[in-house]
Amino acid sequence: MKVINVVGARPNFMKIAPIHNLMLKSDKITPVLVHTGQHYDEKMSKVFFEDLRMPMPDIYLNVGSGSHAVQTAKIMVEFEKVILEEKPDMVLVVGDVNSTVACTLVVVKMGVKCVHVEAGLRSFDRRMPEEINRLMTDVVSDYLFVSEESGLVNLKNEGIADDKVFHVGNVMIDSLVNHCASADESDILKKLDVEKEGFCLVTLHRPSNVDALEGVMELVETLIEISKKTKVVFPIHPRTLQNFSTFGILSGFSNSPNIILTEPLGYLDFIKLMKECKFLLTDSGGIQEETTFLGKPCLTLRENTERPSTVTEGTNILIKSLNKVNILKHTDDIILGRTKKGTIPKLWDGKAAFRIVEILENLYNMNLNRENCG
Ligand code: UD1
Repeated sequence: MKVINVVGARPNFMKIAPIHNLMLKSDKITPVLVHTGQHYDEKMSKVFFEDLRMPMPDIYLNVGSGSHAVQTAKIMVEFEKVILEEKPDMVLVVGDVNSTVACTLVVVKMGVKCVHVEAGLRSFDRRMPEEINRLMTDVVSDYLFVSEESGLVNLKNEGIADDKVFHVGNVMIDSLVNHCASADESDILKKLDVEKEGFCLVTLHRPSNVDALEGVMELVETLIEISKKTKVVFPIHPRTLQNFSTFGILSGFSNSPNIILTEPLGYLDFIKLMKECKFLLTDSGGIQEETTFLGKPCLTLRENTERPSTVTEGTNILIKSLNKVNILKHTDDIILGRTKKGTIPKLWDGKAAFRIVEILENLYNMNLNRENCG
């Protein structure tokens, strides 16, 4: 059975790697790796193939950046050609980025089976482009692999048939488990001149946090305040860097020696920083899950989360009101040792990809039997 695995943006790589690498060992599945090129910078893409020990893509679509419509449309046009040429039995997409929904729409209309990994997550906030991508992808996919129990409930409520849905666990945690030991070898702490538990790690890239000057100013002032109490390591996403430089606020950091700005980091360096920091401030999706697995305090600068188990079970706290006073209240708690303890959600055990590949192999056998009987 030929399966095309799709990657496009940074958070896709660590989700596809464990699946693709297992498929390469399967005698029933021939995987083909397609990279849409949604993320193209070396630091947002290539470094992850090396760190995750994943083969380079078999096919690269090179679509690049653009408005949502332009980016989604370009991916669709290019991906349709791939499907016509490769004639896969199945296409597997992960997560909620524009590449996910674009490739899904192409394949379901061409009658090819589509598998969505990390299905069922919902923020119930349709202002987020990712929420639209999640809804669209799930409603038309043939098989839905779910990472946490809320996903099962959401899909049921949306009327998705039970026999399409499989609770397999979290492939992002598979990658974390697989690469924790290699991450320990990273010398990033030395490079950045920070010590274990002696810094806060920050990532920000959501349009809702970094696209408007007023909100950005409040966040920057907050980071400067935090840096008076502990070092702040801030790997800057390209979107955030662009906006900071347009707003002319990058120089604002130069008087704050405790704020360490870096380029986006590789996977192993970033895991090392997550493991060794005192706490994280983020608006990312996946980092909420990784910190829950690592038992690390995580303050998420968002009104909502599509990953509620990280709050109900894990170490994640949603900071809904993004004013300086409120954020500082939460960071002070952590600095003073008042941290939230958590547990690890069900099936976040490093074996999700194994379950996925096993289910796909069984589906393939069932289809083969059906064809032979017919
Ligand atoms: C995308 C995903 C988001 C994910 C994030 C992780 C969607 C809708 N959003 O957001 O869910 O959390 O990736 O990073 O798919 N850029 C570069 N180099 C790159 C990639 C992007 O400079 O390699 C710049 C471009 O100017 C682009 C901007 O960053 O316009 C934003 O990139 P884009 O892929 O549109 O969305 P992200 O904000 O990265």
